[in-house]
Amino acid sequence: MSGPLVLALESSCDETGLAIVEGGRRIHANVVASQVALHAATGGIVPEVAARAHLRWIVPVMDEAWAAAGVTWDDIDAVTVTYGPGLAGSLLVGVNFAKALAWVHDKPLVGVNHLEGHVYASWLLDPDEPEHAEPAFPLVALVVSGGHTFLAEMRDHLTYRLLGQTVDDAAGEAFDKVGSLLGLGYPAGAQVERLAREGRSGRFDFPRPMLREGYAFSFSGLKTAVLTRLRDTDKTDPKVRADAAASFEAAIVDVLAAKCMQALEREGLERLVVAGGVGANTRLRSRLIGEAQERGGRVFFPPLRLCTDNGAMIAFAAALKYPQGDAGDAAFPVFPRWDLAAAAQSTPRR
Ligand code: KG4
Ligand code: ZN
Repeated sequence: MSGPLVLALESSCDETGLAIVEGGRRIHANVVASQVALHAATGGIVPEVAARAHLRWIVPVMDEAWAAAGVTWDDIDAVTVTYGPGLAGSLLVGVNFAKALAWVHDKPLVGVNHLEGHVYASWLLDPDEPEHAEPAFPLVALVVSGGHTFLAEMRDHLTYRLLGQTVDDAAGEAFDKVGSLLGLGYPAGAQVERLAREGRSGRFDFPRPMLREGYAFSFSGLKTAVLTRLRDTDKTDPKVRADAAASFEAAIVDVLAAKCMQALEREGLERLVVAGGVGANTRLRSRLIGEAQERGGRVFFPPLRLCTDNGAMIAFAAALKYPQGDAGDAAFPVFPRWDLAAAAQSTPRR
């Protein structure tokens, strides 16, 4: 066994995830119960409904993970859980469940920030690609999820310097809202991507917001531009819909790629780590790979299915924090810490 074997829980939004991961990288089990169908009827997440679904599914998800992992509680070194940011009710379910497990089985409890979890998904080993190299430092991390969009510089593990973030919507949120304008279900990112494949990205000249304005992002104007253009076009025409999706996707990828390359250049760095649900976008992935290669740089992505929320992504940060645990340090959430609180709005803690 290389490194601690960790049972990792993620319940910050609308996926109930539980994983068993060795040394932060080798996945023994990673089970996710998605609430996508549940929230489809409301076109978005109702927090109370999400929290109740976590309660309903967390035990069956854990049972499935144990069955897949083939290990027992005796093998587990620590329990880890996302403490925030996210939906308060959803976080509470995961945090309290993790506390109960840690107490009953007398294991240390490690709190991990959801966003650092997304970043560390690039360290996970894909069972299909078991030799995947760890990203080396220093690097630039781009986080593009449903709730967050920002660039950070990492000079070492667990150290983040925020370079810039969105002043309004997150990139994933923009995909979801444009998807909703096109009558697609929630979340719409992957569906917009599929629709865009059939379309022509040059048809609509959507804006590239704040392209030359440092590291800040803004996507609400782009969303409004799509809304306005679709108002005077026939939205039921399949060609219009595909072209609108392709033109929107091109605009957002242009902005994200330009900011990433600018960050590498300005900070004098070569490596880029992409994190979060939008990191699953094929157009974004190939664009970033191409542009980074041209500059002699390298991009790291999580395996596709590990871009969106899952338990395994929480495990690497937990494995880093685990051996340094100090029960006396309130700022450092390791060991049986009964005061680990769900924090709906939070930044990473070392
Ligand atoms: O990281 P994530 O699972 O959850 C948050 O922490 O927010 O990201 C979910 C977001 C959603 O907005 C979803 O539409 C978007 O990621 N997404 C995509 C794709 N797959 C998921 N956006 C663009 N292209 C995709 N293929
Ligand atoms: Zn997430």
